[in-house]
Order: sequence, then structure tokens, then C-alpha cells
Amino acid sequence: MNINSIISIKLKQILLNLNIKKNTNTLSVKAIKYIKFGHYQINGIISLANIVKIKPITLAKNIKARLELFYIIDKIDIINVNFINIFLKISWLSYNLKKLINSSRLNVSLIEQSKNIVIDYSSPNIAKEMHVGHLRSTIVGDSMVRILKFLGHNVIKINHIGDWGIPFSILITYLEKINININDKLISNIKLLDRLYKKAKKQYDNSSDFVNKVSSNLIKLQNGDIFYNKIWCKIVDITIKNNQLIYNLLNVTLNRTDNVGESFYKSMLLNIVNDLQNKGIATSKNYLSFVTINNKKNKFDNPNHVVIRKMDGTYLYSTTDIASIKYRYETLKADKIIYYVDSRQQNYFNNIFFIARAAHYIPKSVKLEHHILGMVLNKDNKPFKTREGNTIKLIDLLNESIKRVSIIIKSKYPEISNEKLIRISKILGIGAIKYFDLSRNRSSNYVFNWDKILNLRGNTIIYIQYAYIRINSILKKINIEEYKYYNCKYYFNTNEEILLIMHILRLEETINNISKYGTPHLLCDYLYKLANLFSNFYENYCILQSSLKLKTSRILLLIVTSLTIRTGLNLLGIDIVEKI
Ligand code: ARG
Repeated sequence: MNINSIISIKLKQILLNLNIKKNTNTLSVKAIKYIKFGHYQINGIISLANIVKIKPITLAKNIKARLELFYIIDKIDIINVNFINIFLKISWLSYNLKKLINSSRLNVSLIEQSKNIVIDYSSPNIAKEMHVGHLRSTIVGDSMVRILKFLGHNVIKINHIGDWGIPFSILITYLEKINININDKLISNIKLLDRLYKKAKKQYDNSSDFVNKVSSNLIKLQNGDIFYNKIWCKIVDITIKNNQLIYNLLNVTLNRTDNVGESFYKSMLLNIVNDLQNKGIATSKNYLSFVTINNKKNKFDNPNHVVIRKMDGTYLYSTTDIASIKYRYETLKADKIIYYVDSRQQNYFNNIFFIARAAHYIPKSVKLEHHILGMVLNKDNKPFKTREGNTIKLIDLLNESIKRVSIIIKSKYPEISNEKLIRISKILGIGAIKYFDLSRNRSSNYVFNWDKILNLRGNTIIYIQYAYIRINSILKKINIEEYKYYNCKYYFNTNEEILLIMHILRLEETINNISKYGTPHLLCDYLYKLANLFSNFYENYCILQSSLKLKTSRILLLIVTSLTIRTGLNLLGIDIVEKI
């Protein structure tokens, strides 16, 4: 149910009856913040009146007279000729609130036309442990998977792991140099591999001999050298197993079948380069092949060059990305491909999209969207790193959060059993990090701050959980089933109740907005406001002690608030604690 669109559709009909067919979007419908002025407002009367050359007051009155007949509307005020304020019938709001209780999807409508949407997210590189830089893509991407599926889209998750390029060759060159063989313990777990990779990278950054060796080894790998491919398989396997542990801990839906890494496209790469050359899109000099993108200037005002094959014949990150677009359209039948990748790759993706379109690998109707992600920073606004300047491992961050939450819980509930403490700290510790990340606008950087993440009052999971547990502690005193089938008149007359109801009924509107721009922080804002509105109501009115008719209405409101919090957190991929 989407009240905004119900009113907007009605408004369009009214305008049509008034013989206004064009420019109807000049009028917009918005929820009103202070309900003493109304519940929804129509804006833009003067502008439309000027366009259609009618007196604004005549237009306003004409709309008002027709809207008054609409059965959901109680009263209408015209404000300064330009705005029409609508008061909805409380009985209609109550009726819709009641409907939510028996709907598994809180009456959020399914999308009319389901699309095949590919979501490319998480996508770490092999031979390295996942670090804080992977948090946003993994969390935001996964939440968008859930939200788009919930709306009825066919979502195809892809973990485009970096398993075919230079990083692997850097590692293997180093392993060779220090004489490590495939069965060596040193390459049997991700932590050790990660350490070796760092040492290898140092050499790569400092020695040109090493760089040359890395190139020739990459050629061997990409040409199918059996030995290198064996080590490669082993390292990919170790990395994937380790990443899976993190995904499970994070309650992220990615699993092995979603791993379609760069190497998957290897058999397409030669053809892609040849094709781009034949179409005159790529220029080649011996093996070297690149695309010059003239219409997109980089910040130095020079044309962009995207290399798709190096002089030594090896393929790059860009080549696999171009191939993957072709594959995702041709084979996966994607209508839309969304990338959750950090903002530093914005120029890169613009170029890749440009090339894929120029080569007609996808038709115009297929959308390619890079949903940029800001960075996680420390208090000094620098990239968030350990004191020693190393990247922060995701696993360490998650464990730290669990530990901090467990200290808070223990201090508040000293009697809590150990088993319960462990279980709840895990849910809240992971939830705290996820929620904080999701509550920030994805395209901006944010500062990682434990005090804010674990704040009992701010926009945090702890605050929302607190509201949820409070509601549950009331609801457990009654028999919810009884209320589900109760068919009576509901009484809502306080501002706090109406505000809460209006907000609950805006879930669909919120989710639809999120689905357009990939902005799950709007769902966090929504839940935070919901928890606030609940508290305002709860702190001012009694529930179980009130008269029977009020009690029934208020309990209905609590049940639906609790269902809404649960559904919202579920869409964010955040587990919930029922009680402590
Ligand atoms: N592996 C890349 C990195 O760590 C991210 C890949 C994003 N997806 C893509 N299709 N390029 O930067």
C-alpha cells in the first residue's frame, strides 16, 4: 500500500476530468510533517495554474471539490492558494493498518514488471583476507539483493572475485622466489597467504626485475600452464572458503554458486579484443590493444585510454569486465546490471560501459549502473587502518564489535547466562556494524566511530532493538492470535498514534525509493523514525491498562510496529534479538 501513489493517481484522474492532460507532474504529493496541518499535501497549484492559464484559486477549488468526494479523504484545506492539505479518514487508515497484520509482506505490492537484475558486489581479490574496504560493497550489495527480490525482481548475485590478474602473479612469483612448493604449510591458510602477499607486493613495488618476472608468470597462468593453474586452484579455494566464513558470520546471502570471478571469462577475452579491433573501437600495436575514449575527458583533459591487452599479451581487469557485460546480457538475460564498487572506480566504469555500448554488447534498454561507495575513514578523516598502517581485517573488526557488545550487555544484565551472552552479542555485534554502515549514505565517506556505532540512543541497531524488545515484552502478555482475527472498530485519536500509523503505512513508498537509487540508508532512517515514534507513543499512553476499546487498537498498533521493524531489518540483512 502506497498512500502517496493512491493520492497521485486520483489527482491525475481529477486533472483529466478538468481537461488538464499535460504538465500534470507540476503537482506533487508529499507527506506532511506536522499532522495538525494535514496528512498529505499537494504542492504546485500556482505553477500549474499559470501553465494552463486558470486562476490558481479556481484550480485549487476545483481540485478540492473533486477530492472531497474521494472516500479515503476526511477534510481538505487550501493553504495560500498554492497548497492543498489533505486529512485522511482515520477509519481508512485503521482499516489499512489492520490489513498488515495478516500480510506476510506488510502489504507492500510486488513490482508490476519483474526484471532480471544482476548485482555485482563484494568481489574481493584472491590470496588476501577480506578487509574493511570490502565491508560496504558486501553489506550494501546484499541488502539491495534482498530488497529487489522482495519487490519481486529476479536478482542474480555475482561475486566478481579478482582471480585472474596481476595480484595472483605477484604472489606466485614470490612463492617461486622463496622456493615454496604446492604442499607447503605456508600456503595452506589465508592468514599466511595474506602475509606472503604483502611481502610479495613490497618486492613488486621496489624491483623492476620482479615486475618482469610477474608479467611472464601471468602469461604462463593465462596461457594455461598446468603447474601454475594447480597452485592457482588451491589458492582460489582457500580464499573462497575463508570468505565464505565471513559471509556466513555477516549473514550475507552470498555463497559458492555466486562466485563468478574474473577467470570465468578467460575463454572470451581473445575474441573480445579481436572484435573491438575489427569494429574499429580498439587500436592495436602488436599485442598491445587499447580503446581511446574521446568523449570522456579525464581530469587532465586528455582522452582516456583503456588498455584491454598488454604488450606481453596478458589481459586485464578491464577486458574481463567488458566480457562480463556481454555474458551477463547474452547468457543471463540481464535487464539491468548494478555494480556496488567504491567511488575511485567511477571513471573506470564509465569507460567500460562506454566500450560495451559502443561494441553493441548490450542494447540501449539494458541499464548499467555503478552505485558508488564512499570510504570508511578514521577520526582524522584518513582511510581506516591499524596503528601500524595496515588494512583492518574484516574478521578482526567483527570480533571486536562482538566483544564490545558483550561487555555492554554483561554490565546491564550481570545475571545473563554465558550461552545467551555469546548468542546475543554475536547478533548485536554484527548487527551494529552492518546497521551503522547501511545507515550512511552509500556514496559518502564515513568515519568509523565505536561510540556512535554502539550508542544506545542514536540511529543504531541497539536503539532499534531496544524498541523492538520493549514491544515484545508487552506483546508476550497477550495472545496475538486473538488480535489477528479481531474485527472491530479501531480508535486512534492521539497525534502520537496517527503519526505512527502514517509512518508505518509509508514502508512501500520508502522501499520503492530505495529500489530506484540503491540507497538502503533510507530504510535505516525509516526504522529509526519508527522506533522514535513508537517511543513517543509508548511513553505517553498506557496500553494494557487502558479501556478495552483503546487497548485493542493500541495492541494492533504495537503488533504492526513490531512486524514492520522485523521486516525492515530482514531486508537490511540484520538479525534480530527477540528478548534479552
Ligand atoms: N576486485 C575488485 C577490487 O577489489 C572489485 C571488482 C568489482 N567488480 C567488477 N566487476 N569490476 O577492486
